[in-house]
Amino acid sequence: MAPDAPAPDDDPLAEAGYLDVPPAEGGSAGRGWWDANAEEYLDEHGTFLGPDDFCWCPEGVREADAHLLGDLAGARVLEIGAGAAQCSRWLVGQGVDVVATDVSAGMLLAGRRYDEQTGARTPLVLADARALPFADASFDVAFTAFGAIPFVPDADRVHTEVARVLRPGGRWVLSVTHPVRWAFPDDPSEHGLTATRSYFDRRPYVELGTSGRVRYAEYHRTIGDHVADLVGAGFVIDRVVEPEWPEGHERTWGGWSPVRGALIPGTAIFVTHRA
Ligand SMILES: C[S@@+](CC[C@H](N)C(=O)[O-])C[C@H]1O[C@@H](n2cnc3c(N)ncnc32)[C@H](O)[C@@H]1O
Repeated sequence: MAPDAPAPDDDPLAEAGYLDVPPAEGGSAGRGWWDANAEEYLDEHGTFLGPDDFCWCPEGVREADAHLLGDLAGARVLEIGAGAAQCSRWLVGQGVDVVATDVSAGMLLAGRRYDEQTGARTPLVLADARALPFADASFDVAFTAFGAIPFVPDADRVHTEVARVLRPGGRWVLSVTHPVRWAFPDDPSEHGLTATRSYFDRRPYVELGTSGRVRYAEYHRTIGDHVADLVGAGFVIDRVVEPEWPEGHERTWGGWSPVRGALIPGTAIFVTHRA
């Protein structure tokens, strides 16, 4: 967010919808929004995520079971868009050499509080995923669980930065909202099961303040867009995981619920490596 922008609390919500906004404004809004909403977000989802658990998605896929990052013995690992760094904290507990990064100081501060609570020491670095403060080829593995990518208009820049800091052959694993969800209302009930918008409409979901500034922006990419961004940055796609809703999993998370999970996917996890 630009330094002269009013804080979100001083700029109440005036309008929300699928709108074209200047990419630079949409891409920088995330920082202010996550700073302002870190506590509320963690009040709502912190228990599900746990302070030191590695959960890939609202379907509850855990790295401990899925092993999507592969063997991490001796690996240097980078998390981008880490939020309160729950995933990295779990990796620290496994003895992994990991650095968690995020653009929001508010989210990282919450991560520091989790460290105090759990006794962990998780390396936390404030960084926009589109400009990582690390040397070329300095990591073996990078990952994000719903971080950064949905909140920037230029995800190709994230992939290019990740490719730069990964050594050749290094793994890049990212979970995102399953693109098919864009066509449906973000509603966990049966109202969220009727397609009402075009899957191909790339206009972001945007919240504007009374000042006219972008308070929040979330960007859609089709499956083809994700593939083009990844391949264009030099990644080979090894797998796309579409987790099914587990039997007995009753937890609703925003638009994710057992009702919708029984019929349509909610998450896509791309498992890739740098060529
Ligand atoms: C849904 S959270 C994901 C974090 C964590 N895995 C979780 O589930 O809470 C999204 C995170 O992406 C971060 N983010 C948004 N834009 C970013 C950017 N340009 N660079 C790095 N992080 C960004 C936000 O600050 C937020 O912490």
